[in-house]
Amino acid sequence: MNVLVTGGAGYIGSHSVAELLEAGHDVVVVDNLCNGSEQALRRVEGITGKSVSFEECDIRDRESLGRVFGNHDIDAVIHFAGLKAVGESVNVPLAYYDNNVHGTTVLCEAMAAAGVFKLVFSSSATVYGVEAPVPYQEDMPRGTTLNPYGTSKAMVETILEDLCKADDRWAVSLLRYFNPIGAHPSGLIGEDPQGIPNNLMPFISQVAIGRRDGLSIFGSDYPTEDGTCVRDYLHVVDLAVGHLKALERLSDPGVYTYNLGTGSGVSVLEMVKTFTEVTEVDVPYRFAPPRDGDLPAFWADSSKAQEELGWCAEKGLEEMMRDTWCWQSKNPEGYS
Ligand code: NAD
Ligand code: WQD
Repeated sequence: MNVLVTGGAGYIGSHSVAELLEAGHDVVVVDNLCNGSEQALRRVEGITGKSVSFEECDIRDRESLGRVFGNHDIDAVIHFAGLKAVGESVNVPLAYYDNNVHGTTVLCEAMAAAGVFKLVFSSSATVYGVEAPVPYQEDMPRGTTLNPYGTSKAMVETILEDLCKADDRWAVSLLRYFNPIGAHPSGLIGEDPQGIPNNLMPFISQVAIGRRDGLSIFGSDYPTEDGTCVRDYLHVVDLAVGHLKALERLSDPGVYTYNLGTGSGVSVLEMVKTFTEVTEVDVPYRFAPPRDGDLPAFWADSSKAQEELGWCAEKGLEEMMRDTWCWQSKNPEGYS
């Protein structure tokens, strides 16, 4: 297939481009580089020995996007492009709705105009909202989201469902990721957050490499085994393979929703302990007040992806830690 990947120069996108190329697909990446790096794509070419077409373009720019579809004979789209910082989304909600929601509608219009109706969308476990019981299952309703980022993902899911109801040429896969971490085992591509990391894993690895003094663990009194929050962390390469499988199974029209997680939860303290055991590098930490909007614990029921896509997360926590550290220690300052 000839696959257009929006946001392919970012963290999950670049790993997915590598898997697509390894599987024999051709890839065109569209990215405005607001949080991605063209270097990631050059390194993907080094890993795979194959080339990637790159178009620097904002998905909200109808004309440029139309030109990209005109210049390449695209069969399907994997849509990663968007903004993802939960805290920032509270301060600049319009930027999130504009990029994540409006960006997706412009993309779908450009796809339809080009006769492309297969779409895999990056959604998030956050759409289950605050009241959902664990483990999360795909047939649960979307719940109350707590921030514009989460609301933008829920809105896009609704829009894509409406689109499929209105026009039976569309086949859409909604992939709800849990907590992706880790890096390509080569250590050549990985997560490169700008500024202070919002997420736990890059924060831990930046403390370990000496870029930050210590980790603040948000909350020590949650109703979990050790009092810290529990999440379902999965290896980014497993997640990338999930995209490949979702894409390759996407033939009949309709909406297909899958959780992509391991199916088990790990606490923040267990994360720090495992990182230290695997890398033999100490991560100083202190307990800090809980972070607004954090849920105590959630993880996936990932049996639907196993049954329908033949996908399950194969890489364990130690491998996630090893690969994170390999990337971080080979690239202390990320791509810069
Ligand atoms: P990322 O920021 O590394 O990648 C997103 C890419 O999209 C970046 O390269 C950025 O430059 C590009 N981009 C942003 N807006 C654009 C626009 N308007 N036009 C063109 N390119 C644009 O993020 P990621 O972690 O790789 O996440 C990819 C997708 O997965 C996002 O949609 C995110 O919301 C979703 N997601 C991420 C996580 C996570 O924990 N990382 C979890 C669930 C869902
Ligand atoms: C994990 C745990 C923190 C940083 C977010 C988004 C979610 C999805 C994935 C996109 C929590 C704790 C963190 C730190 C800490 N993204 N923590 N100290 O919040 O589960 O999910 O990323 O869709 O929508 O909300 O991930 O990595 O930020 O936090 O103690 O410095 O680590 O409190 O319990 P989260 P995270």
